[in-house]
Amino acid sequence: MSIEISSQVLRSALPDSTKSQLFLMDIEQFLDSLPRKPIFDLVVTSPPYNIGKEYEKQVPLNEYILWQKKIIQKIYSRLKNTGSICWQVGNYVENGSITPLDIAIAPIFQKLNMHLRNRIIWHFGHGLHNKNRFSGRYEVVLWYTKSDDYTFNLDDVRIPAKYPGKRSYRGENKGKLSGNPKGKNPEDVWDIPNVKGNHIEKTSHPCQFPVGLIERLVLALTKPGDLVFDPFAGVASSGVAALLHERNFWGCEIMEDYIKIGRDRLEKTLNGTIEYRPYDKPIYDPRISALSKIPAEWRTTNEDANS
Ligand SMILES: C[S@@+](CC[C@H](N)C(=O)[O-])C[C@H]1O[C@@H](n2cnc3c(N)ncnc32)[C@H](O)[C@@H]1O
Repeated sequence: MSIEISSQVLRSALPDSTKSQLFLMDIEQFLDSLPRKPIFDLVVTSPPYNIGKEYEKQVPLNEYILWQKKIIQKIYSRLKNTGSICWQVGNYVENGSITPLDIAIAPIFQKLNMHLRNRIIWHFGHGLHNKNRFSGRYEVVLWYTKSDDYTFNLDDVRIPAKYPGKRSYRGENKGKLSGNPKGKNPEDVWDIPNVKGNHIEKTSHPCQFPVGLIERLVLALTKPGDLVFDPFAGVASSGVAALLHERNFWGCEIMEDYIKIGRDRLEKTLNGTIEYRPYDKPIYDPRISALSKIPAEWRTTNEDANS
C-alpha cells in the first residue's frame, strides 16, 4: 500500500476518509476546498509558533492569533460531534519575553464552546540553556472535545501503578486491592524525550514532535478506523502514530521536502520498518552513563571551594 500526495482537492467531492493521504498545500486553501461536513475524529497538531523558523514568516502576535482563529474555526465545522482537537504549543518569544501560546489561543476554543478536558504538560529533558531566565523544559497540549459525548479509551493507555499491592484500609472495601489490575491513569504530565540530536526519529525537520506524544492521544481519543488529521503535518509524525494503531490519517503541509519525508515514514509504518520510540518506553536513566560522573577537574575545584 502506498501513500498518495495530492496537491489539489475538489470542492464538491470529499477525499476518501478511509484512505491515508498527504495534501501538499496551504492549510486554509485545503480546508476551504473541503465540504463543510463533519469528517475528522481527532485533529492533532503543532502549528508554527511564529518564532521565525525556516517554514514561517514571523508576524505581529495579534496577526498570528487571528490566523490561528480562522483555521481553528474552519476545522471545528469539519470535526465530528464525538471528536477532539489537540493543539500542541510552546512559547512565542519576543525580546526575551515569553507569551505561552496556549493562553493566547484558549479563548478561540472557548468562543466555539469547546470543552477543555486536559491541559497536558509535555515535559522533556533537553533544550537551550537560558542565561536570563530558567531554561524551558515543557510545552502544552490543549485537549478539547466538541461535546460531552466523546471517545476516551482510558483502559488502552493505562500505565503500571506505583503500588499495585496497595489495599483499602477502611470502609466496606477494607483489605481489598484498591487499584486497577490494568494499571493507573497516565495523568496529565507526560515525560517524553523531544526529538533532538541522535533521537531515533530525527529527520531534517527542525521541530518534529515525538511519535510517542501522539500515540497516547490516538489510542485514548480514537477507535481503529477513525480519521486523524494534522493540519500542519511536517514530516507526518502524527500519521506514524495513527497508522501504527490502525487509524487513518490525513496530513496537510506546505513544504514539499517535508511531505516527501512524511510519505516515506508513513510507507515504512505500513510495511513495519519505521523506527520510533514507543510512548511507554521508560526514560533513559543518565546515572548509567560515564558522562554523569563529576569530571576530575571539577571535583578538585569544588573540593577547593568547599575547603
Ligand atoms: C511545528 S511544525 C510541525 C511538525 C510536525 N508536528 C512533525 O512532527 O513533523 C509546523 C509545520 O507547519 C507547516 N506549515 C506552516 N505554514 C503552513 C500552512 N500555511 N499550511 C500548511 N502547513 C504549514 C510548516 O512547514 C511546518 O512543517
